[in-house]
Amino acid sequence: MRRDHYHLFSECQIGALTLPNRLVRSATWDPSILDERRMTDAVLEVYRQVAAGGVGLIITGDFSVVAPGVVEEEQPCAYEDVRIAGYDRLVEAVHQAAPGCRIVAQVSGDYPGIGPSDIPSPYTTERTRVLTTAQIRAIVGCFARAIAGVQADGFDGVQLHAAHGGLLSRFLSPYANLRQDEYGDGVRIVREIVTEARALAGDFPILIKMNATDYMPGGVDMDNFPALARAVAAAGVDAIEVSGGMWDCLARPESELGFRPVPAPESHTRIKDPGQQSYFLPYVERVDVDVPIILVGGNRDVERLEAIVQQGHADLIALCRPLISEPDLPRRWQEGRGATGTDCISCNSCLYDMYTRLEAGSPGLATCVYKQDRARFQEAQRWLASWVKENVIV
Ligand SMILES: Cc1cc2nc3c(=O)[nH]c(=O)nc-3n(C[C@H](O)[C@H](O)[C@H](O)COP(=O)(O)O)c2cc1C
Repeated sequence: MRRDHYHLFSECQIGALTLPNRLVRSATWDPSILDERRMTDAVLEVYRQVAAGGVGLIITGDFSVVAPGVVEEEQPCAYEDVRIAGYDRLVEAVHQAAPGCRIVAQVSGDYPGIGPSDIPSPYTTERTRVLTTAQIRAIVGCFARAIAGVQADGFDGVQLHAAHGGLLSRFLSPYANLRQDEYGDGVRIVREIVTEARALAGDFPILIKMNATDYMPGGVDMDNFPALARAVAAAGVDAIEVSGGMWDCLARPESELGFRPVPAPESHTRIKDPGQQSYFLPYVERVDVDVPIILVGGNRDVERLEAIVQQGHADLIALCRPLISEPDLPRRWQEGRGATGTDCISCNSCLYDMYTRLEAGSPGLATCVYKQDRARFQEAQRWLASWVKENVIV
């Protein structure tokens, strides 16, 4: 049975942006763009496949906007590098493959070792370099200029990456932000970025991905998230994608976390029974904001997802690993072909693929190791099981 009449497949609006349906490809990092310093046909092909697969909105993998000189002269990656790499060709590829599909660039303020406050991490003995007010102001300017650049490159919008323990996420977290100055109000940096970006880019859609829970004592949690989400919405963003987790939390036991601590905390593994799906749903159920909510994390069954949007708990549904496994999943669901679930078994072998290829010096877009190579899948499962044990400092 076709599902054209489902709410999931109805048009929707994010600020000035009209989307053909409510399914979103959540950000999926692509280290190969920076490594190659140019856009490759392989990357363009993956984006074409995802667009042609029927998703309404694609969010790119994240890239840091921190410009040289803000922290140090030399730095690992910056948004300008991505632009030089021919990032704008992604837009053309997506719009040609599926004219209704929209594409948003994800930008972050990530830079190794910096933060609002010096918080010890279970994964390193190095201290956090606490940003000065001047550095924070400079980073706000970098975001605003990058957003204007994203607009000039033809993207349909931008998403601030403020989840998973990256820089903006740490500002928003009462666990990671202990500042006594004006930036102790973690939403302030988001408000300033949005205000400065609007001065340069008008009503260009600005989305944000943020944590509903840090899974850390004293961090963002079920109780303080609703107020934080309201404050972030009031900062002027056009939509909030709700995620959770920061790497520090993986040092905690499964009994406390409620999920198996393997890389990465936002991508829970072993989602077997339906109750484990859509694991941030209980958080969005408590949120009342006047901008669209995008629910990400363990969304696996079209019938359950339709119920979630019908009930108004979320306006859009985002998927990452299922689209690595099956890029045409949205179309398959809409046409009523096959199972209501996905081929993705949430094993995180795709993350293993991404990180190990990066370490080996041949970075590329994450692929579904489970489907492609069972021997490597076993290897991935061993890597995932031992990663925390080997890296945590006791
Ligand atoms: C290979 C891979 C790369 C990812 N890259 C990013 C990223 O660049 N930015 C981001 O916000 N989240 C990233 N994520 C997290 C996903 O967007 C998503 O929040 C998470 O995997 C949960 O959704 P899922 O259950 O549909 O996979 C990545 C996840 C995977 C598996």
